[in-house]
Formats: sequence, structure tokens, C-alpha cells
Amino acid sequence: MKHTDIAVILRQPEKFLGKEATVCGWVRTSRNSKTVGFVELNDGTSLNNLQVVLDKSLFDDNKIGYFKVGASVKMVGDVVKSEGNNVVDFRLKKYEILGDCPSDYPLQKKHHTLEFLRTIPHLRPRTKYFEAVFAVRDQLSYAIHEYFHKNGYKYVHAPIITGSDCEGAGEMFRLTTQPWNASYKTEEEYFKDDFFGKKAGLTVSAQLEGEMAAMGLGKIYTFGPTFRAEHSNTTRHAAEFWQIEPEVAFAEIDDIIEIAEDFIKSITRSVLAACPEEMKYFDQWVEKGLIEKLEKMLASDFGKVDYTDAIEILKKSGKEFKYKVEWGCDLQTEHEKYLTDEYFKKPIFVVNYPADIKAFYMKQNKDGKTVAATDLLVPGIGEIIGCSEREADYDKLVKAMKKRNMPLEAYSQYLDTRKFGSVPHSGFGLGFERMLMYVTGVSNIRDALLFPRTVGNL
Ligand code: 4AD
Ligand code: MG
Repeated sequence: MKHTDIAVILRQPEKFLGKEATVCGWVRTSRNSKTVGFVELNDGTSLNNLQVVLDKSLFDDNKIGYFKVGASVKMVGDVVKSEGNNVVDFRLKKYEILGDCPSDYPLQKKHHTLEFLRTIPHLRPRTKYFEAVFAVRDQLSYAIHEYFHKNGYKYVHAPIITGSDCEGAGEMFRLTTQPWNASYKTEEEYFKDDFFGKKAGLTVSAQLEGEMAAMGLGKIYTFGPTFRAEHSNTTRHAAEFWQIEPEVAFAEIDDIIEIAEDFIKSITRSVLAACPEEMKYFDQWVEKGLIEKLEKMLASDFGKVDYTDAIEILKKSGKEFKYKVEWGCDLQTEHEKYLTDEYFKKPIFVVNYPADIKAFYMKQNKDGKTVAATDLLVPGIGEIIGCSEREADYDKLVKAMKKRNMPLEAYSQYLDTRKFGSVPHSGFGLGFERMLMYVTGVSNIRDALLFPRTVGNL
């Protein structure tokens, strides 16, 4: 259908003023008096609506009575100077209803609660809030690819179906074509008859495959969906989320920390520059002071604190935490929030975690207790990046795997990389939705995904 995007008209109104144009869209609001009608039309290309003005004397009254909210229309009219505060007005001359919309359309009001909108994920992209979320989500993806491409990384596509639980946390979704009532005496027999002849699942992280690619390609990144059957029903956990995982050969922990900070700042800058309207909207309606928060972040260095020191800070905080703090414990959201929101008041890297609470692949520090791993924590959210230098020493790696009772034969190819020209290398995983939440102020991960998958909700 030949027509002009509303965004194109609103961005360069001078090109269209006084001229005829054809637009398409959905009716967001519709107001009427005896002689004139006003329709706010949105086609998804711009956060702002096109204000359509209709002079009722020009139309057959019976037909033009009103445009129903939610209806889709094609309109021909003149772009004219606005009589109100709009960039331009659109004086309607001709129209065609493409899809009518009955009055049980759920988005009749201008404002709905996010809880309500979560019950209609198929319709919520028609609201301003979600239009803004998905515009920034798109820009953020673009910025991520741009950053890596410009810095010489290769984008690789790791498999989604895998046999190995990278994080070793037992949160893998199982993938099977076995009939529901298949009965076997042992697990081995059961999986032997399955599609792959062995147990398979959906990836929890592309890291292991990414490491093997980096051992030849040098600098790579993956950007794809990851799946975790975590039963944590929180505002920051989804069962299906997107992860960005760069892997860098010849990089030690301090190198990758530098890259992570540069990367976060670069993609934030890109969103601020490319999505001014969306960011203004979030700043005004979703998180007051959001833009200032991000600009301050861009202008200062991220903090860095040793895990051991972080534990001391938490102990001395005088706070009553639900989860007790002692050396060796994993940091809970409440601990992370204290560190970022109250103590440091900026993003911080917590480094050198106890080996026992982290994954097998992390480089073992000389102290014999900690690993060269870091989480990046940001105010309001907590962890957005999990990062580490990888253990490049074959014997040390095998020892860590044996300690965790891992089946070495299943990892023989991974271990080969430590046998054939092993190099120091590091990488990280950024939770894409958590990053999106950080830059938009969206406080529930369910509002950062098109169709969120969480425990009990598909
Ligand atoms: O810290 P994680 O588990 O690290 C890894 O998976 C490493 N293999 C990454 C690497 O070094 N290549 O996960 C990385 C990030 C977290 O910091 C968090 O932002 C996000 O992924 N994440 C989740 N986001 C949404 N829902 C969940 N259930 C998430 N679990 C992790
Ligand atoms: Mg983590």
C-alpha cells in the first residue's frame, strides 16, 4: 500500500507542509464535536501520533460519525500547520476503514496499568509505553552489533540445542521427542532412544561454544536467546531471555573489565542519541531522573570492589538483611542493591568471588580460594553482567571439573582447547533485558519482552 510513515512526516514537517499525503495507522483516540472531529493516528513508526482533523461538513454524516478506537484506517489528507501544539495537523479528505474495531477492544482508555497490559501481550505493542520499550530494545540491539563490528569481533551463532549445562546449575530445559508415556528401566536407555541418542536441552549460555570459536577467530560474540528453568519468580528473571556473550582471546580479567565498561557506555550513548523521544518519555513517566542517571554514569568511572571487601562493607552496614552475610555466600539482590544504590551509588564490578559459588570454567586465583570472576552490578537492578577470565590450564580445569563431579568425556572437545595452544582468554554475558531495564527504567522484566516466559506462564 503506497503511503508515508507518520514518523517521516513528523520528523521533517517542512517537507510535507501544504502537501497531500496518504497515511495508514490505528486510531488511538477519537474525539468529536458537532462540526469537527479529532483522531490521533499511530502507525508504530513514531512514538508521537499524527493529529487528524476532520471537517464534518465535508463528509456524509452517517458514515463519518466517528472513528472507533483501535480501528485501522488508510487516510488521504493535507499536511497543514497545527492549530494546537502538534508538529502538524492532517486535514482529512478521504479515508478507508481497513479493519473495524468493536467496542470490546480492551485498550479503550488512554492509560492502563502494566499489570493489566501483561494480560494482553498480543495487544500491548499498541500502547505508547510498549512502543517506547520496543523502540529502545531495537536500538540497543543495533548498538550492540555496531559496537562489536566496529571493534573487530565476529558475530557467531552458537547452537541453541546442546548437551552441556554451561553454568552447571541444573537449570536446563530438557528437549525430547520421546512419547509422554515412554517407560524405560534406566535414564540411559530412555535417552538412548531419544532424538539425539542422548540427553539434550536448551542452552543456558553460549559461552562454551563461544570459547571454542574464539580459540581460532580471536574475538567473537554471540547474541541469542538463552533458557533457564529457574523457579525464581522475581522481577528480573525470565525463563527465556537474550544474552550477549563476547569471548576474547589473549585477554585477562582486567582487560575484559575494561571492555565491559566501554561496551556498556557505548551502547547507552547510542540509545540516548538515537531515541530522544522515547528516553524523554521514560524520564518523565517511568523513572524520574533517568537521563541524568545515565549521563552521570557515562561521565564517571565504574567502581571496583573485591568480593571480600564487599562482604565487610555489608557486614558493617548496620542493615538487617534477610539473607545472612558471610564470606563464601552468594550475593543476594538485597546485598547487591545496598552496594549499588546506597554505598557506591554507581555501577560496580565485584571481583574475585569464592570459587565454590561460581562455575567450573573460571580462572583459579593464586590464593586457592577465589576465582578471577566479576559481576557488574548497577543501581536499581543488581547484576547485569557475569564475567570471568577462563581457566586456561588443562590440569587445573580438570581438577575443578572433577570436584564438581562433571563427566569429563562429555567435555573432551572443550578440554582440547586447553591442550592445543591454550591461551589466556576472558568473556562475559550481558543479560539483554536487564540492560534494557537499566536504560529505560522499566522495573519488571515481563515488560521488557514481547511474550515473556516465566515459571507457570507460557
Ligand atoms: O551470570 P550468568 O549466569 O553468566 C553466564 O551465563 C556466563 N556463561 C556468561 C559468560 O561469561 N559468557 O548470566 C549472565 C547474565 C546475568 O548477569 C544476567 O544479566 C542475565 O545473564 N541473566 C538473566 N536475565 C534474565 N533472566 C534470567 N533468568 C537470567 N539469568 C541470567
Ligand atoms: Mg551470574
